[in-house]
Amino acid sequence: MTERTLSIIKPDATRRNLTGKINSKIEEAGLRIIAQKRVRLSPAQAGKFYAVHKDRPFFSELVEFMSSGPVVVQVLEGDDAVSKNRAVMGATNPAEADPGTIRKEFAVSLTENSVHGSDATESAAVEIAFFFADVEIVG
Ligand code: RTP
Ligand code: MG
Repeated sequence: MTERTLSIIKPDATRRNLTGKINSKIEEAGLRIIAQKRVRLSPAQAGKFYAVHKDRPFFSELVEFMSSGPVVVQVLEGDDAVSKNRAVMGATNPAEADPGTIRKEFAVSLTENSVHGSDATESAAVEIAFFFADVEIVG
């Protein structure tokens, strides 16, 4: 089924000029980038986006990292886009990521792991609306 998911290229990747290489991986996986913009999140915005993790021990480190530099936020569309994007991203911890995945090839550490992807269609809808107006999404 055709789905949409939210992707974020994280500050460790924008800092190392990897946006194009990561976009190639996404497109080679059969996903279309139907919206994209580069933004700098404030700590408050990063905390709101990752509010689901607010009680986790890594929350403050995650918020500090996600607001440490520019990010590229994107809407991806395709068959089973949520799970397809999670597959091309690889495991959260790059040490456990499969060969060929974005995190295996580019991630620095468990925190600085280069990309975010929505984990379900429901969270994808909320996350897409967090960053994009409908008129900015051109499928
Ligand atoms: P994401 O939400 O960014 O797509 O990552 P994910 O689903 O693979 O992992 P999740 O459990 O949702 O964690 C969100 C992000 O928090 C950072 N993290 N740090 N230091 C730690 O123990 C730890 N655990 C997670 C990572 O940046 C992870 O992607
Ligand atoms: Mg997650």
